[in-house]
Amino acid sequence: MPQPTILLTRRWPAQVESYLAARYEITLNERDMPLDPQALQDALRSFDAVCPTVTDQFTVQVLQAGATRCRILGNYGVGVSHIDLAACREAGIVVTNTPDVLTESTADLAVLLMLMVARRAGEGERQVRAGAWPGWSPTHHLAADVSGKTLGVLGFGRIGQATARKAQRGFCMRILYHSRRRVSPAVEAVTGAVHCATPEELLGQADFVSLHCPGGAETRHLLDAARLGLMRRSAFLINTARGEIILEDALVDALRTGRIAGAGLDVYEHEPRVPAGLADLPNVVLLPHLGSATLETRVAMGMRVAENLDRFFAGLEPHDRVA
Ligand code: DGY
Repeated sequence: MPQPTILLTRRWPAQVESYLAARYEITLNERDMPLDPQALQDALRSFDAVCPTVTDQFTVQVLQAGATRCRILGNYGVGVSHIDLAACREAGIVVTNTPDVLTESTADLAVLLMLMVARRAGEGERQVRAGAWPGWSPTHHLAADVSGKTLGVLGFGRIGQATARKAQRGFCMRILYHSRRRVSPAVEAVTGAVHCATPEELLGQADFVSLHCPGGAETRHLLDAARLGLMRRSAFLINTARGEIILEDALVDALRTGRIAGAGLDVYEHEPRVPAGLADLPNVVLLPHLGSATLETRVAMGMRVAENLDRFFAGLEPHDRVA
């Protein structure tokens, strides 16, 4: 029997590409540039499986125009808001993602952003590199503590819980959370988290607000001007989830006017474009979507996709099916 054909839309860590090449007829995107809608449609027509990433927009139009041969999208990443899941179901395409394996690295990055923005680490580093450090003094570069403060977590799935656990155990933080579904008392006990019935209830009490909800229509612009206006003036906003959860113009305004103290961002609504206003502000830390970007995690993500494909092509239910 011929091997199933698989397209990886971007280059993956070498050991995962080798694993797949030994089992399937794989095609690599040698240029490693995001594919445009036409190329995605062609991919759906030409391959048994397509393995996309967050840089591939599988819209309803792409899926309706292209879906003929492809039977599974093995997404490399946990977030799937770039894939229209309803259109995939309609077209009979199975979709899988890569949960669990990136939880700790993404939560680590949320903690890193909290520390960086509160301690003004980016500003300090830029000062040293520019040769502009005047030397130690009792009032040089004063910032805010992280330890002992209150962290509000919006979205309390795996990554939100891991962030809460690290913040509570590592930095003695008090944890509040809001989530579509309240978690079990056991999870609340492990993470030390107190449930808030609404985002509004959480926003006014937190020194740090960290976003961990999925992207997509339901959470788009959840943090708009009105909700940003509920945050404390001394508070920091952290986003390692999806850019579209924040109304970026409103955030620029809130940061510029001192309505909130700062922001630590790893994701943006129209990546890789970062709103110009943001990059001009000193009280914001800007990272280029690095949440899962460790070699260990990126290999584990690839192997998780491979496991899903192996099960699918063996006629078994893939573990991480989301559509
Ligand atoms: C994820 O896994 O969702 C990362 O953000 C990359 O897509």
